[in-house]
Amino acid sequence: MTERILIGPADRVFVLTGAGISAESGLPTFRASDGLWAGHRIEDVCTPEALEANPALVWEFYSLRRAQGAAAEPNPAHRALAELEAKLGERFLLCTQNVDDLHERAGSQRLIHMHGELAKSRCQAECGRPPVEDRTVYRSLEEVPLCACGARLRPHIVFFGETPLEMKRIQRTLEESTLMVVIGTSGSVYPAASFVNWARQAGARTVYVGPERPLNAGAFTRIVEGNAGAVLPGLFEVSC
Ligand code: APR
Repeated sequence: MTERILIGPADRVFVLTGAGISAESGLPTFRASDGLWAGHRIEDVCTPEALEANPALVWEFYSLRRAQGAAAEPNPAHRALAELEAKLGERFLLCTQNVDDLHERAGSQRLIHMHGELAKSRCQAECGRPPVEDRTVYRSLEEVPLCACGARLRPHIVFFGETPLEMKRIQRTLEESTLMVVIGTSGSVYPAASFVNWARQAGARTVYVGPERPLNAGAFTRIVEGNAGAVLPGLFEVSC
């Protein structure tokens, strides 16, 4: 039987995505890579301490990810969410833990990148200037430009130990949501893994979509098993 999620005129939908939604676009998930990159634990190249101690290594890691992201294309799951947003307008918000830009390239606009964006850089000294668009794949640290204040730019990424972006808007929207759909995330990184509990407290239906059960599976009212690109197109039935 084909699974369907019914969305009525009174529903307000919050979607949370993780690395799994980009897997079918060819971008490896963290779990699939065993949490390792070139012999380093991913946590060791994604921390403020790593940036301080070895900025060349951190920039090498993110330059490689920029190159991978630029070569990838949105898949049917990204497009299904953009189509859902077009139907629901301001009753829809998409929050992604992913730093790739495949959601926006598929047409999503009501979008929060809570862990930052690969295609931007900002001042490493936090001088207050806003992030700048930057898709450059740097071959060495010497190529990385300086901010107008003189400090070096860093990737616009929320490292382990740093506070995710737009938390107030996320919390406010979750409190008003009647349906939360979580796609392709292992439920192992907080605070994102606790959003489902906030939605449950607000009385929302909570649905997980992915090929395996996440660590926080018990918090979902329904689990739809399968790959996002196969499941999402045709999953939502909107009656409004
Ligand atoms: N469709 C849907 N889900 C998939 C697919 C697919 N085709 N392929 C794999 N998955 C699921 C896996 O079952 C797994 O549960 O995607 C999940 C990926 O989990 P992780 O690699 O842990 O990624 P994620 O949960 O997004 O990581 C969260 O951790 O390293 C940090 O900041 C980084 O945003 C990231 C955060």
